[in-house]
Amino acid sequence: MTSRFLQTLLDDASRPFRNGSRFAYHYARGKLSSDCIFRELLKRGIFPAQGRFLDLGCGQGSLFAWLLAARKLYEQGNWPADWAPAPQPLALLGYELMQKDVDRASQAFGLDHPIVSIRQGDMCKVDFGQADVVTILDALHYVDHARQKDVLKRIRAALPPGGLFLTRVGDKGAGLPYHICNWVDHAVTFVRGHRLPTLYGRKLVEWVELLKSLGFVVETLPMNEGKPFANIMLICRVPAA
Ligand SMILES: C[S@@+](CC[C@H](N)C(=O)[O-])C[C@H]1O[C@@H](n2cnc3c(N)ncnc32)[C@H](O)[C@@H]1O
Repeated sequence: MTSRFLQTLLDDASRPFRNGSRFAYHYARGKLSSDCIFRELLKRGIFPAQGRFLDLGCGQGSLFAWLLAARKLYEQGNWPADWAPAPQPLALLGYELMQKDVDRASQAFGLDHPIVSIRQGDMCKVDFGQADVVTILDALHYVDHARQKDVLKRIRAALPPGGLFLTRVGDKGAGLPYHICNWVDHAVTFVRGHRLPTLYGRKLVEWVELLKSLGFVVETLPMNEGKPFANIMLICRVPAA
């Protein structure tokens, strides 16, 4: 049942990208099928039942397409019995530095989507407003350490009690797997038509210390699924009032 369901979820989540280029479609399909984080987020019920989402460094909006498709299937009763209910997104706001990705997102979701808005912007500069969930998937390490701290402080301020900040980072203390992550990162960035970036990693303990110092309760979960990477998902919750 689950593998047929996953195929349907993947088909539905990738479909909006058919409105754009072949690249956008195949990139979304490849990313959503090969990266276990998308499936695990839903299966484990990490997101709240409903909420306003803010995704920083959102690329072409693959996470939002995934969430929309998941909620639709859940409402249709097509949902694995052992998965948590799919979250209901009330608003999906994304900021992405690269205009090319924002253009792909616009082609996928349209410019007048009722809840999705993906805008060009630098996470170090844009106003986050208020959100119930903030995500940064594989993008925080593009920002230098001082700016990372400022972004994290502003995320904490944008979240209410009980709010969630979810991110995935590489553990710089992990040795070779961390370097493999960075080589892959450089290759993917290059394929997506961007310049090779400088990457600003931290050891896992340093990430956790920093997030705790900002008032988050932090849970860590390796998120590599058999790949020789050092990726860790950080589930950071604002304590309830
Ligand atoms: C590895 S990609 C991940 C994209 C997306 N989060 C996903 O999971 O598909 C990292 C993204 O972060 C974006 N990015 C890097 N620095 C950024 C910044 N300062 N503000 C906003 N986006 C940024 C990059 O352009 C890139 O699209």
